[in-house]
Formats: sequence, C-alpha cells, structure tokens
Amino acid sequence: MVQKSTSTAGLRGQVAGETALCTVGVTGSGLTYCGYDVSDLAANATFEEVAYLLQFGQLPSQDELDRFHQALKAQRALPQALCEILERIPKSAHPMDVMRTGCSALGVLQQENDFSEQDDHIINMLAKFPAIMTYWYHFHFNGKKIETGSNADSIAEHFLELLTQSSPSELHVQALQASLILYAEHEFNASTFAARVAASTLTDIYSAVTAAIGTLRGPLHGGANEAAMALISSFNDPADAEQGLMAMLSAKDKIMGFGHAVYRTSDPRSIVIKEWAKRIGEEVGNMNLYNISEQCEKVMWREKELFPNADFYHASTYHHMGIPTDLFTPIFVMSRVSGWAAHIKEQRANNRIIRPSADYIGEEPRVYTPITDR
Ligand code: COA
Repeated sequence: MVQKSTSTAGLRGQVAGETALCTVGVTGSGLTYCGYDVSDLAANATFEEVAYLLQFGQLPSQDELDRFHQALKAQRALPQALCEILERIPKSAHPMDVMRTGCSALGVLQQENDFSEQDDHIINMLAKFPAIMTYWYHFHFNGKKIETGSNADSIAEHFLELLTQSSPSELHVQALQASLILYAEHEFNASTFAARVAASTLTDIYSAVTAAIGTLRGPLHGGANEAAMALISSFNDPADAEQGLMAMLSAKDKIMGFGHAVYRTSDPRSIVIKEWAKRIGEEVGNMNLYNISEQCEKVMWREKELFPNADFYHASTYHHMGIPTDLFTPIFVMSRVSGWAAHIKEQRANNRIIRPSADYIGEEPRVYTPITDR
C-alpha cells in the first residue's frame, strides 16, 4: 500500500470557497443570511422576503416584493406534461424521489437555455415545488388530480392549501413561514456544496438543483426530520423516552435530530422551531410529543453533550400541523431551493470548476494480469 492518507475526513473544518450569503462557518454558533440574524428574520420576515434577500443580496422594497409575489403566483400551475410524469411515478416512491424527478422533469420541459434566464428559472422552481409534491401526493393517496395554481398570498399558504385542500389557519401559515426561513440557507452544507460542484461545470440550474435534492435526501442531512419523527413517536411519554433513549445510547445508536457538523453547543434554528413546536402543540391541545422531545433533549445533553439541531423540533411541529411525515424533507427542498439557487448564482458569477485532489491510498503500480492467469 501507498502512504497513509493525511486528508481530513468529510472535509470538516476545511475552507472550500467563499460566500457572501451566510456566516455559519465563522463562529459555529450564530447564523446570518446576508448579514441578518436568522432569528430576526424568522420572527419578522416572510419567506419570500428571505428568498429575495438571498437572490439579490438585499431585502426588497414593497414594490420589489409585490413584483416578486406576482411573478411567483404566475408560475404556480404545473404544465400538463409534468402532471402526467408525476402520475407515472409509483405510489411507493419516496416523496424526495418525486421532488428529484419533478425538478429534473421541469428542467426538461422548461429548459434553461442561457444563464441570463436564471432568475426566471429560480422563480419557476420556488413557485412549482409545492405543487410537484402535493399533486403527486393527492393523485396517489386520494385519487384526486388537484388544481395546482392558486391565489394564496405566500408559498407557505399555497403549500398548506394544496396539501389540505382548504384554507389554512393564520397560525399554521406563520409557523411554516418561520420554518421555511430557518431551512432556507446554511453555507457549504452537503447539498449546497453538491449544487455548487454541479454549477461549477457550467451545467444548467435544474441539473444543479437535482444534484442538491439527491444529496439532501439522506438521513444524515435533510432526512433527519423524518427520522426524528420516527424516534419521538416510538415513545409513549417522557419516562419511556428516557428509558428508550438510554438503551439506544448504550447500543451506540445514532440519535437522529441531534448533533451538528459545525455547531458545538446549540443550533440557533432549533431555539426558534422549539418555540413553534410548543405553540402548535398548545394549539392542538396535545403536548405529549413536545414533552417527549424535551426529555430527549435533556437526556442527549446530559449523556453526550449533544443538542437538538434544526430538524428535531420540526418533527412535532409539522406533525401537529397535519403534515404527513414523508413530506417533511420535501418541505425542506421547497425552502432550501432559495439557498441552493443563490449559491449557484454566486458560483457562476466567479466560477472555477471545483476539482479537489485525493490522497492515494491504493496499491503500488502493478502489471495487468491476463484473465487466464488470475
Ligand atoms: N447520536 C449519537 N452520537 C452522535 C450523534 C448523534 N446524533 N451525533 C454525533 N454523535 C457522536 C459521533 O458519533 C461522534 O462520536 P465518536 O467520536 O465516538 O465517533 C461524536 O458524537 C462527535 O461527532 P461530530 O464530529 O460532532 O459529528 P459529525 O460532524 O461527524 O456529524 C452529524 C454531524 C450531523 C452528521 C451527526 O451529528 C449526526 O449524524 N446526527 C444525526 C443526523 C442528523 O440529525 N442530521 C441533521 C444534521 S442538521
């Protein structure tokens, strides 16, 4: 064998490029989008304002926001060919595979021919992702071909309206707005890095976002919110959570929704979504999942000094909003496409193909052996 590798596993702590979009890597504690603290944005902004901020580097004026909303509304309805493709995807598919295929199909039907069109295609994805998910869902699970256009005021309201086929409560719209803001952007996380690598080859925007969706799908990344739901719903009450979690820890199981590759003591997004988990639990008059979640948080800190990440308290929040667990990660896609798109634009604006090197740890050079001699 050749020399042992000196590389850092998972590229942890290595600077892989520059960004003006997000500061998570600076201290590993705060989180800002274009200089604005994420908690400030989650408390005061709408997701559309944040998506605009990420695309254009500044918060929109009222006039700019109105035009952004209008452009989004105008693009909501899915083309018939896309509806037919979604109908063909089997009911057994994971909704993340539906999102990945839906995004890729959109890029076939409405191609990006030139980078000067990129902002229109970003609007196209932001506008259509909620319907890609819900059209497939209703077709297969309720036998219904839903209307995909709508007059809803926001992406959050549009999604909830499509999902529930009724007008959502103001509280649910607000909770989803906050959630979409928290999920919108997170520096060089795995899916964003995948998007940037793809973009650096000068491929089209749909290919780059498709690569990102495939990367987000894994349980160590976006899939953790669904895994967290499976965890908390496996416990009957906080005492059961205490016992069950201790058993999982002694079995050296990984506890989904805890820990983070960059943050060391807390995830600023978790603090915000935990508040929403409480409010939504109180609204439905059922605090059991919230109390179980809090017990998990206590045990994980006491035993491992691990804290809940953005995904953990999303589980009970989404569940009590009536969102099926399989759709948790696709909502992440609906939001994170704003961050991916901003990174793709940033990469394109100052591009060099991303092509790192590897430490070779394989065999010494050897001579080909004919198959008859092996
Ligand atoms: N449950 C149990 N142990 C955990 C853990 C978890 N959720 N997260 C980290 N650890 C352990 C690691 O196994 C490691 O132990 P070791 O040194 O004995 O191998 C130690 O804590 C330190 O891990 P760390 O370096 O902080 O994590 P990482 O950077 O390798 O991985 C994650 C980060 C997010 C992938 C990891 O914490 C994880 O798998 N979490 C669960 C999945 C999840 O919630 N993902 C969403 C992220 S937003």
